[in-house]
Amino acid sequence: MDGKEEPSVRRFNKWAGSYDTGILSVFFRMCNGKICQLVEPRDGIKLLDVGCGTGSLLESLFRSGRQVNLCGINVSPEMIRVARKKLNGKERVELHEGSATNSPFESDSFDYVVCANSLHHHPDPGQSLAEMTRVLKPGGVVIVMDAFIDSRVRKIFFRIVNVFRGEGKVQHFRRQELQRILHNLGHESVTQRTYLLFLLITCGTKSKTTRNPSA
Ligand SMILES: C[S@@+](CC[C@H](N)C(=O)[O-])C[C@H]1O[C@@H](n2cnc3c(N)ncnc32)[C@H](O)[C@@H]1O
Repeated sequence: MDGKEEPSVRRFNKWAGSYDTGILSVFFRMCNGKICQLVEPRDGIKLLDVGCGTGSLLESLFRSGRQVNLCGINVSPEMIRVARKKLNGKERVELHEGSATNSPFESDSFDYVVCANSLHHHPDPGQSLAEMTRVLKPGGVVIVMDAFIDSRVRKIFFRIVNVFRGEGKVQHFRRQELQRILHNLGHESVTQRTYLLFLLITCGTKSKTTRNPSA
């Protein structure tokens, strides 16, 4: 963990115990449900959830009945502890405590990498997206769901949320910024859609000719 992640880790460690029962859990469940609709859970594929929280998305995909290999990474040890309780003993599920900016996974190894409502908390979202791209197989799909600030209303809304929820330092993107970052990282057919007015779902397919930064 890097020092810049400490405030976020403290905050999510504190939240972990009530994360699945608080009022916001309804919102997070809806978001995870939407992501599940965008994933085609075929037998044998590998999916990574970056900033997996308490593992709810992985649990839903596990319940799909398909033999999907599921992996989650989260920087908060307490969130991971709750996820481990939930997913304890489930076959083909791995959980890692660690940062999105420096993940322990092999290059070109996942069919899907998803990241829901987490990216704006990352200290270096560009580096997180580069890592997500590195671990994706060529032809694999990254799905990022996060707040975006393309209008004044959204900007003001998220500033208020930030203050009231004491989120600390966060970074929200505009549609085109995210699109540009994914194109620069070697994604083709980047598509975007709005969800629940304030969220943006960005899907990128890693080009078969993308060279990983570490290659
Ligand atoms: C609002 S929660 C969303 C959790 C989950 N994706 C969901 O939809 O329920 C944000 C999550 O991102 C995690 N997170 C924040 N910064 C991170 C980082 N740099 N690397 C990995 N996870 C991070 C937090 O610990 C937290 O679990």
